[in-house]
Amino acid sequence: MTFATPQATTLLVLLLVNVQLGTSFTVILSDSGAPSTLVDGPQSGLPGSNNGARTDSKEQQAVYDIMRATGNDWATDIPNVCRGRWHGIECVPDKDNVFHVVSLSFGALSDDTAFPTCDPTQSTISPSITKLPHLRTLFFYRCFTNNPQPIPSFLAQLGSSLQTLVLRENGHIGPIPYEFGNLTRLTVLDLHKNNLNGSIPISLGQIPGLRSLDLSSNRLSGSIPNISFPSLSILDLNQNHLKGPLPIPLLTTNSLLKVDISRNRISGPIPDLNGPKNLILLDLSYNTLTGPLPDSLQNLKSLQTLILNGNPSMSATIPDNAFRGLDNLMILGLSNTNSEGPIPESLGRLTMLRVLRLDGNRLNGTIPPSFANLNGLSELRLDDNKLIGPIPFKRERVWEMGRKLRLHNNLGLCYDQKSGLGDDLDTLSSAGIGRCDTSKNVPASSIQHISTLNNGNMLISSTKSVASTHKINGALSRKILALTAIFLFINSCLL
Ligand SMILES: *[C@@H]1O[C@H](CO)[C@@H](O)[C@H](O)[C@H]1NC(C)=O
Ligand SMILES: *[C@@H]1O[C@H](CO)[C@@H](O)[C@H](O)[C@H]1NC(C)=O
Ligand SMILES: *[C@@H]1O[C@H](CO)[C@@H](O)[C@H](O)[C@H]1NC(C)=O
Ligand SMILES: *[C@@H]1O[C@H](CO)[C@@H](O)[C@H](O)[C@H]1NC(C)=O
Repeated sequence: MTFATPQATTLLVLLLVNVQLGTSFTVILSDSGAPSTLVDGPQSGLPGSNNGARTDSKEQQAVYDIMRATGNDWATDIPNVCRGRWHGIECVPDKDNVFHVVSLSFGALSDDTAFPTCDPTQSTISPSITKLPHLRTLFFYRCFTNNPQPIPSFLAQLGSSLQTLVLRENGHIGPIPYEFGNLTRLTVLDLHKNNLNGSIPISLGQIPGLRSLDLSSNRLSGSIPNISFPSLSILDLNQNHLKGPLPIPLLTTNSLLKVDISRNRISGPIPDLNGPKNLILLDLSYNTLTGPLPDSLQNLKSLQTLILNGNPSMSATIPDNAFRGLDNLMILGLSNTNSEGPIPESLGRLTMLRVLRLDGNRLNGTIPPSFANLNGLSELRLDDNKLIGPIPFKRERVWEMGRKLRLHNNLGLCYDQKSGLGDDLDTLSSAGIGRCDTSKNVPASSIQHISTLNNGNMLISSTKSVASTHKINGALSRKILALTAIFLFINSCLL
């Protein structure tokens, strides 16, 4: 379809947002951007129904220039570019039935979406692009990779119309133009995977309607500026060289759905996050954040994914109430955060959990019996900690997790004979985990540990050791233990 309808424009926005999110989840943004200066004419878009329509001649010449600069000289043979019927150009007629270019896209995005490709060795962005005063969407994907060039600052002259700017995987070098602060109608700015350096320009704070900012996979440095965007849904700054504290104004924006600042050099604590009630994903992994986790994480009721792996300077105990009420949490990563002390019993109440990674820490005590409630768990990493005592899972769960259950390198994990877990389970035996009631299977260090805990009385029964290390949790723990025992008993009868 050559002639844009409002539906076509909305579809494109959806497509772009999906690209940014990968496959993890889908966010639907309606294309309710600032009203166009154009008067949208009849929306049939069918060939023949607009026979009298011309394309604005200055824009036509500009499109020729832009096509030539990307190695698409064939387009210059097309007498009316708005009727050229190639994917990647959209036009809208004004009240005098003159067509204006509203969208240009380049690059082989997918098999279904074949925009004109660029000659990667000599393509450039033609300055004639500034002669398209109605352009709302500009999209270049893998276009200048073998001809590294800065992002031209003249794009900022499209400020009165441009809503979506995507320059993705283009090999751009140099800074983000400071002039981009003049793109005040932008809702989507996507500069993913270039070689951009310098800092994030503070001028971007002048863009009031920005909904998606993706600057991921570049070489941006400096601190994240204290700017804010009242409608921001997606903030992706992952894989840069950003340092300094987490940006409080950005992170407390109410409209946020996804925040990824992973793989940078961000330091300092996680601030109180009282704003973003609808936040679904928070990834702050591989930075140098310090602990402890703030209790205010509890406010992020919609959170499905929280990833804090690889922040070795967190070095704190995991607060028992940090995740209280996060009933939608499916993925929780606290690997290599130097966390110490016990695993909170409350984690076992997050029944939606599918992936839980607590490996590479100094967690001690036992695996909370409440973990037996985590029936959706498909991956659990507890390896490289100081855990002791029985594994509170039924045989089926251990089978289902298979190699994604990682328990090796702990002080003294074992399985209870009554649980039905046997030596035939590869995952357990390869992790060096034996039966709780055979002293020869319990490493010497953990026997010592258990016996110290119980005032020198050597404990052999695992059930007793759980009860004693969980004394602090009192009746609840004992109830769960009793329930677990009943389940295990029924389970072993069934087998
Ligand atoms: C923004 O545009 C105005 C003119 O509209 C210009 O005077 C100003 O220098 C521009 N600012 C930037 C940062 O480019
Ligand atoms: C950005 O990279 C260019 C080379 O591509 C270099 O000349 C320039 O000094 C770098 N700027 C910063 C701020 O690192
Ligand atoms: C943002 O504000 C915080 C708190 O006022 C401050 O610590 C931080 O340095 C500021 N960041 C920048 C980049 O100015
Ligand atoms: C766990 O380690 C902490 C220090 O990190 C220590 O105070 C506590 O007694 C240990 N608890 C157990 C059950 O070993």
